[in-house]
Amino acid sequence: MFSFLPVLALLATAHSWYTCDEVEFCSNIRYNYNIGSYSLTNIEVDTSVTGNLINEQTAESFSFTFTALVGDTFRLTVQDADNSRYTPKDDVLDGTPTEQSLTLVSISEDLLILSVDDDLSVYLYVSPFYIEVLRDDQVIIEINKANRLIINTADEDKSLSLDISFPIANTAYGIPQHAENLSLPSTGPGGLSAYRMFNVDNWGYPAYTREALYGAIGVLYGISTDITSGIFWMNGAQTFIDITNEGDGVDALFISETGALELFLFAGPTLRDCVRQYTTLTGVTPLPQYFTLGYHQCRYSYMSQEDVETVVAEFDNHNFPMDVIWLDIDYSDGYKYFTWNYTAFPDPEGMQNNVAATGRKMVAISDPHIKVEEGYFVYEQALGGDYFVKDSNGDVYEGECWPGLSSYIDYFNPEAQEWYGELYSLENFPNTTLNLYIWNDMNEPSVFEVDELTMPGDLSHYGGIQHRDVHNMYGFKQTQATYAGLLKRDPTKRPFILTRAHFAGSQRYTAMWTGDNSPSWDHLRVSIPMLLSESLAGIAFCGADVGGFAGNVDEELLQRWYQAGVWYPFYRSHSASDTERREPYLYSDEIQERIRSALNIRYAHIPYWYTLFFEHEITGDPIVRPLSYHYPADEAVLPIDEQWLIGSDIMAATVLHEGAESIQTYFPGGSDAYWYDLENNLGYSGEGYYEIAVDMDSAPYYYRSGSLVFIIDDEVRSTEEQRGKSYTLRIFLDTSLQATGNFYFDDLESFDYRNSLYHYLQFTYDYNTNELTIQKLHEDADFDGEFIIDQVEVNTLGVLYSGSDSNRLHQINRQIIYANIVVGKMQSRKTIKL
Ligand code: GLC
Repeated sequence: MFSFLPVLALLATAHSWYTCDEVEFCSNIRYNYNIGSYSLTNIEVDTSVTGNLINEQTAESFSFTFTALVGDTFRLTVQDADNSRYTPKDDVLDGTPTEQSLTLVSISEDLLILSVDDDLSVYLYVSPFYIEVLRDDQVIIEINKANRLIINTADEDKSLSLDISFPIANTAYGIPQHAENLSLPSTGPGGLSAYRMFNVDNWGYPAYTREALYGAIGVLYGISTDITSGIFWMNGAQTFIDITNEGDGVDALFISETGALELFLFAGPTLRDCVRQYTTLTGVTPLPQYFTLGYHQCRYSYMSQEDVETVVAEFDNHNFPMDVIWLDIDYSDGYKYFTWNYTAFPDPEGMQNNVAATGRKMVAISDPHIKVEEGYFVYEQALGGDYFVKDSNGDVYEGECWPGLSSYIDYFNPEAQEWYGELYSLENFPNTTLNLYIWNDMNEPSVFEVDELTMPGDLSHYGGIQHRDVHNMYGFKQTQATYAGLLKRDPTKRPFILTRAHFAGSQRYTAMWTGDNSPSWDHLRVSIPMLLSESLAGIAFCGADVGGFAGNVDEELLQRWYQAGVWYPFYRSHSASDTERREPYLYSDEIQERIRSALNIRYAHIPYWYTLFFEHEITGDPIVRPLSYHYPADEAVLPIDEQWLIGSDIMAATVLHEGAESIQTYFPGGSDAYWYDLENNLGYSGEGYYEIAVDMDSAPYYYRSGSLVFIIDDEVRSTEEQRGKSYTLRIFLDTSLQATGNFYFDDLESFDYRNSLYHYLQFTYDYNTNELTIQKLHEDADFDGEFIIDQVEVNTLGVLYSGSDSNRLHQINRQIIYANIVVGKMQSRKTIKL
């Protein structure tokens, strides 16, 4: 046994991140192939399989439970005999998962065969213990087949590991947050460093690495064009993962510092099924307010009330739409959250009201570190209530952060949670209005001037929980409290929160952004796989700082970033305090025009985004998706992560390379599918790569043939101005000369949709009859609000009529039909002749 830790701890500067090989528990396991084995005894089969898992070397016994859950999901739990290992289940799971019965097909001394139905079965091997999940008689998931299960039980080392394989997969996606490709590269001894999940303040992080960042979600998918399956490693502690996908199958080794072994298995059979299986367990992002899908303007920091109001006015003067202006830490008095710097912001309420009068909202930052200062009401109340995290001696922990010496709220204490949430009330957070929403940052948590810029593992939380057990959950617990607080502040409006640190289940409370990226082309590119990986791990409402946070951005990159950001779920520009100002109106007319055009494209499509968010809430399907989500049988799309789908009907393929004059774009779907580019009036057949010529004005995106998309054509200053505007229905015919799409509409802000007060409609257009059919998708849903379609745009390609054409490129014919279709309360279906 060897340890690098003591040396490294001495050498560690504020900004150095450990690899597995530098952390004792991890390197011990990573290089230890010569381990004993475990066997199962005392097996009982009821609705679940239970028993004891025995370490054959040490004779230690662990309790073992294997359960089938509805939706082709399984759950494996291994606990100490006294149930003492920490499990995050009560926080992470969105309610108790529904069990489903397992049928015992056969039992022998060595093997139990269980089945869920004709397609899906499980082989439990008794000694040595391992598990196989079979679909259609093929093994799709193997657990402990390589015998890497370890559960250490020494007081100073409670680490655990397990090997998980997807034998028929050839590509791995998942385990955010890493600045890596969507298709995860192989790691392992002698090769690349392991993926690390340990929430840290990795400011200015490099692109394309497996370093720890701000979030940790143990969801891994083994992808193949045949069957895709997945797993969820539910553990709140520091975790390393090695992935090998170079030969047959994808193999993973999970190594966690502490905690119970809790694993969920998703039997697919497609990526889409797996993502839905995962979100069934951990929940979805509730439909956000409509305004949150507009453009957000941020800066560290807008330094005064005047600065804020000027930026808003300049956006209007230059016709840039914007919905939200953000306040970073300098609005507060000395970084004491829930206070104002009244010198720079003499009338905070007036400012919020002035911003509101322009149809906009505001967001203010509120971090979990609390300045140690007598007389500061938040500090005093927290101290009085015993709401701070403690050190190993039981004293209130103190560390450095923005305000200087600070203590950290212990969100694991239910009383502290409630008290903290109430700080957001209008009474407690003085001079705030309901027009102000919240940004929770530095919540990994970030602690300056200490090893790895975060709390040491031996701190303690409420109920004696060791920090190392729950490290990756700290930010999650903060946003949980903030969400409850905002909901209490105004139960009639959907809260909006942005977080940096996140964990499995964070999607139920908050949007997320990828932290302190840099203004480099690599960072622009890597933002796409980062957002796709998060989306596949449930974090549907996600974005990256447009322009790159940590440094000055050059003009070309900034424009390309605005063009790409149009297709991020969360669209915000942000920049560090030492960078040059970069509000869009500060650039030349030509650049302004390109940025304006990007923002207008975003605003035109917000009705489409809003519909996708509603559908996410009911299905779990992410908003942005890799191409493989909808084209699972196409091998060529598996590694693609410089183009992405928004829902199923729009494909973004904006320019992500410096100085590009052309880009290679892949069009999926086969010879029957076409992709419509309205900017250039061209349709491409879905038969693979095509070289697309681009200039600085090009920001390519495509509509899928057979789709029908609602947009708002009129240029607006904010989404507020979109209220009551008529819609244009964009129709893209397929080879049968038809198109279908869904549209969701409600009051845009309240929870009334939970009482079925909305329209959720499917529109189908048939060119042969020139008829538009509107079909209610939810029979019970209805709503007084009316909307109007005043224009129908029918886009076709000549090839759709002629049937055969060897050319892959086609001119679009567009027919515009002016209409006045008023949709309000309606029966289940109606058909309109256009
Ligand atoms: C962190 C955040 C950044 C913010 C800054 C000041 O670096 O990631 O977005 O601007 O803190 O609050």
